[in-house]
Amino acid sequence: MNVLVIGNGGREHAILIALRKSKRVEKLYCMKGNAGTAQIAENVDVDYMNISAVKKYVGEHPEIDYIVVAPDDPLAIGLVDELEAMGKRCFGPRKNAAIIEASKAFSKNLMKKYNIPTAESEIFSDYDKALQYIRAKGAPIVLKADGLALGKGVLVCEDLKQAEEGLKEIMLDKAFGAAGNVIVIEECLKGLKYTPGEEVSVLAFTDGKTIVPMITSCDHKRVYDGDKGLNTGGMGTFSPCPFWSKEIEKEVYDKIMLPTMHAMNAEGRTFKGCLYFGLMRTDKGMKVIEYNSRFGDPETQVILPMLKTDLMDVFEAVTDERLADIKIEWEEGACVCVVLASGGYPLGYAKGKEITIGNTGEAVLVHAGTAVKDGRLVTNGGRVLGVVAKGKTIEDARKKAYKSVEGIHWEGMQYRTDIGLKYRKG
Ligand code: AMP
Ligand code: GLY
Repeated sequence: MNVLVIGNGGREHAILIALRKSKRVEKLYCMKGNAGTAQIAENVDVDYMNISAVKKYVGEHPEIDYIVVAPDDPLAIGLVDELEAMGKRCFGPRKNAAIIEASKAFSKNLMKKYNIPTAESEIFSDYDKALQYIRAKGAPIVLKADGLALGKGVLVCEDLKQAEEGLKEIMLDKAFGAAGNVIVIEECLKGLKYTPGEEVSVLAFTDGKTIVPMITSCDHKRVYDGDKGLNTGGMGTFSPCPFWSKEIEKEVYDKIMLPTMHAMNAEGRTFKGCLYFGLMRTDKGMKVIEYNSRFGDPETQVILPMLKTDLMDVFEAVTDERLADIKIEWEEGACVCVVLASGGYPLGYAKGKEITIGNTGEAVLVHAGTAVKDGRLVTNGGRVLGVVAKGKTIEDARKKAYKSVEGIHWEGMQYRTDIGLKYRKG
């Protein structure tokens, strides 16, 4: 099979690395890709948000048998629907199901209607009513812009002043553009052991009939050690989640995963693809913080290396709605991904810095914002490389990953030194 993966980042490189291992995959393509994907796939220089340009390219390349749409924005505008209409087989939800991530108002209403545990919330399109509500509820309180905002449209406000300023930013100043026309205001969840509450990402394959959770992982969203600084797209991940247990798994499967799959079917929005559950363990049980309609980044970088089953077999089983017939197996042990970012990220940063890579030991380098310029490897984004290592335990994998980081340099490179240290006491 010849497979096209749509997207540019670390997640897409990780998907391509997993597909490269498949016995059935011949040629790989990546639109647009980066310097890492170019090593194992043919990079295609087409803007994937330009649906007619994507269709033109796919139409001219009938040898492409299967297309994986990985990022949220092309899913939200219905790229899968368009490609399927051309007779292509795809991995990723259609537009009417991708809304589970693309609209927080939709997902909150879905959870309310089908009794899926989540933070209590109200939805507003009127600024004055939203302000009244915030004043009545008091802080801490969480504000969420309705639409897609590069993972930055959520404000966890410690006091009322912050909340009032945040509301103005989102609804009046339109800091996140049209994503802030509608706002979700919700209670701030308390963790069972930690403040803020302890979070876990559980990704699941689903074909609308069956839902199969993958191994668990945890993300480090803040830019600096000790969860200080601004939120980012993710500064590192590790798998498995230390506080996960058989009991929690059952609770999540019975009360969250299956009900979500059934709810989407009941709404006429069957979800096929990877459904990502951002969960929090609270003093009142496991609750949904957010849904994503796709693989997480950088969660994918620590999940797929542990997959023993051929990823292409899993993708096709989802497409053909026979997920119940296959067994998905995972390696024992742990995996850690340390993200190396450009200086200044998540705010302004320079591009085009030359990257030198020496001895990186046992780690695998997953490329995100990299490019080749005049024959040299250079930075080309905020998150540049993921250094991924496996081990018997998280500590073991962590040591290997950080050892490899020592071999990599560019001017201004920054990273967290505490990836994998969260939730160590369960
Ligand atoms: P989201 O983009 O929805 O994942 O939210 C970003 C981050 O905000 C999450 O990873 C949590 O750390 C935090 N957060 C979101 N909703 C809540 C909530 N209701 N209570 C506490 N923290 C939250
Ligand atoms: N790592 C969080 C996300 O992919 O949304």
